[in-house]
Amino acid sequence: TYSQYRHYMQKEIFEQPCAIQNTIAGRLQSDFIDLSELGENINILFSKVQHVQIIACGTSYHSAMISRFWLEKLANLPCDIEIASEFRYRELVVRPGSLLITISQSGETADTLAALRLTKNYSGYLGSLTICNTEHSTLVRESDFALITYAGSEISVASTKTFTAQLTLMLILITYIARIRGMEHVIFHQIIRTIEKLPRSIEQILSLEKEIKILANKFIHKKHALFLGRGSLLPIAMEGALKLKETAYIHAEAYAAGELKHGPLALINDDIPVIVIVANDYLINKVKSNIEEVHARGGKLYIFAEQNTGFIQCKNINITLLPKTEPIIAPIIYAVPMQMLAYYIAVVKGNNVDQPRHLAKSVTVE
Ligand code: M6R
Repeated sequence: TYSQYRHYMQKEIFEQPCAIQNTIAGRLQSDFIDLSELGENINILFSKVQHVQIIACGTSYHSAMISRFWLEKLANLPCDIEIASEFRYRELVVRPGSLLITISQSGETADTLAALRLTKNYSGYLGSLTICNTEHSTLVRESDFALITYAGSEISVASTKTFTAQLTLMLILITYIARIRGMEHVIFHQIIRTIEKLPRSIEQILSLEKEIKILANKFIHKKHALFLGRGSLLPIAMEGALKLKETAYIHAEAYAAGELKHGPLALINDDIPVIVIVANDYLINKVKSNIEEVHARGGKLYIFAEQNTGFIQCKNINITLLPKTEPIIAPIIYAVPMQMLAYYIAVVKGNNVDQPRHLAKSVTVE
């Protein structure tokens, strides 16, 4: 019940295992994925796709970024992503066999809708599909196909459970498309097993609440923060920065860790916290050397990394240990500590967490 929680944002963060379970239910079977809700001709369409264009705004755009990573890795499909407010004002050059995907919590975001409508003037698209949390929305009505995230209604302006539900559904969809296009049986099954573990893994992460609450106190007087990530976790760094800006009113920027020495390294001092999100994947050693670059210049690091990955707590390095995670779902799971961090900083600062200043839940005007 809501009374257990101080804010909707907190409640919605804690609802994530359930939101994901509801999004998986019926779609993930023991040895296959059921997307029959898309109609009987969908496999023909998916086998024709040569390119995917994803359009979204804000947090939903971060889902698009991660989806591109999965589309390339699992389905070997080229993908372009763009924020709707830019896409709609560019000269469109449509690639042959392009599938348009929009991602939205509300299904009413003006720019995303305008982008969808714009593509209808071009014959090159194979069709449009929306990943949306609102079944009876304009986006769902106007798209050729829709997949609903069953995260339940999200009241807090800051998106949390709809983000991880979008990601889960995108991973299911991309795995399905990949299988049609020749993904090996064994890998297909491994991914199904991995997705099934998501609700439980997120429950484990939620138990870090106390630790993150304590960490939050170190941020209250900060004016700036830098988030670093690489690969599929760069969008999570961006999402962490967005959450911090909108709920805690701290200026935050996310950077690809490999870009540090191309400029932002000049900012490093002991007053700007540097938050690094590390996946235990092929990029871990690269991230470690980026961390070293910050450390050597006196930066204050807050590292979120898996156990047994060799990070050592010291004066300027704070480590939050995360449970062991399959790299493919790391972005979904690692989003949660970023949400919790922003939430608790906003709470300690006494901000209006659910209704941040100047913002609306649904951006229905341009
Ligand atoms: O309803 P949508 O997903 O289309 O909304 C897009 C953005 O306005 C939204 O994701 C926004 O960035 C979040 N509420 C931020 O937490």
